[in-house]
Amino acid sequence: MPDKAKITLDGKTYEYPVIVGTEGEKAIDISALRAETGYITLDNGYGNTGSCQSAITFIDGDKGILRYRGIPIEELAEKSFFIETAYLLMYGELPNSQDFDTFSERLNKSSLIHEEMMNIFAGYPKGAHPMAVLTSVVASLAAFYPVKDNLDPADEEVIIANLMSQIRTIAAVSYKKSIGEPVVYPSNKLKFVENFLNMMFASPVKDYQLDPDVVKALDMFFLLSADHEQNCSTSTVRMAGSSLANIYAVIGAGISALWGKLHGGANQEVIEMLEQIRDTRTSPAAFVDAIKNNKGKLMGFGHRVYKNFDPRAKIIKGLCHSLLKKPGLNDPMFDIALKLEEIALKDDYFLSRKLYPNVDFYSGLILKAAGFPVNMFTVLFAIGRVPGWLAHWREMRHDKNTRINRPRQVYQGPTQRAYVPIEKRK
Ligand code: CMC
Repeated sequence: MPDKAKITLDGKTYEYPVIVGTEGEKAIDISALRAETGYITLDNGYGNTGSCQSAITFIDGDKGILRYRGIPIEELAEKSFFIETAYLLMYGELPNSQDFDTFSERLNKSSLIHEEMMNIFAGYPKGAHPMAVLTSVVASLAAFYPVKDNLDPADEEVIIANLMSQIRTIAAVSYKKSIGEPVVYPSNKLKFVENFLNMMFASPVKDYQLDPDVVKALDMFFLLSADHEQNCSTSTVRMAGSSLANIYAVIGAGISALWGKLHGGANQEVIEMLEQIRDTRTSPAAFVDAIKNNKGKLMGFGHRVYKNFDPRAKIIKGLCHSLLKKPGLNDPMFDIALKLEEIALKDDYFLSRKLYPNVDFYSGLILKAAGFPVNMFTVLFAIGRVPGWLAHWREMRHDKNTRINRPRQVYQGPTQRAYVPIEKRK
């Protein structure tokens, strides 16, 4: 493999270093391109652009491989759990038992939001989308926790614990407020996921009966959502964080990016699509045909990086098979989803474009079975993604090569022209 790439422009040849990742990925380092040649690169949607070097998550989209800090996602899903995996992502290694206990204690200590924040929730209109509430309330943590420029490791610990723990409390409070029920406060007696479920579904008149299968399923959903390298929301976090903005506002920006239906918002869209098919009694084959004819999107299908099965989708599909077997949790929409997948994966339209089910295709069925309303699905994705965002923010801050992120553009607007006074305009 060459260690330099040659580029010839205007009759002159320039050489740029080839960077090779630990898994053999190759990149041309063009940092000096503009200074040396006057050219920039143009890459619609950044499909060919590496924005950083990172040691957190590895994806091979052609082979359907996903690893956090080197450990295959399948192994983590089987043997680990969300909080341990979150630690792995953020600190680089699995915790020993002492580190784990210290981390859990910090999460417990941070779980209460400032009581004055309750006033913020009171200001939202009835029916506000929970993602609108989440993004703004998380950003408003910046008003409660000023962050200095030079953070020491202890400051980082506080930030990590606050965000990991309080996003869960904020999500549950926003839900309780939206249905007009009193808030249930976090309890140090409960583990991370149990605590969240209890804040969501307990009430002063009724205890919440934790179902270990539901707890495990939600934990696994969080674990599978925890990181996915330079996706849209994580890149947003890196972008906003590179200006040294307050980290709570930075995570608010990440949540906003996640909300879009091409990204984390797809889990809500998938269930709404399945409900539409069910309610209109459309056959899955006719639905797939309509998508193709109208150039629409089969939600929960396709991925920028995976051109093969999304390994997270495989795991969640397996989880659907086991969870939805439980009495009372059976969901006919699972059969519709299975049928859609079967039809799409035999269809040349999807095969030729390498469109496979992604993580969002089956995840909504798990969240629905766990009792969550559909508009909370992307909120749950955000809770799961916090460790990934924080891991990238932390990595970026400690990388001596980090500069403010500031892409260039190719200007295609009018060339210089004069200002026309209003009375002379057409
Ligand atoms: N259904 C039907 N056709 C599709 C789909 C789909 N879900 N996704 C892509 N295509 C077609 C697309 O129309 C295009 O066709 P053509 O070449 O004829 O113009 C071709 O496949 C390439 O698609 P693209 O839009 O250029 O691909 P992209 O890498 O820019 O977009 C994507 C990736 C995930 C945004 C897209 O596949 C999509 O919109 N999927 C549906 C939304 C979804 O499920 N999003 C969740 C993504 S995974 C979790 C996450 O990121 O949070």
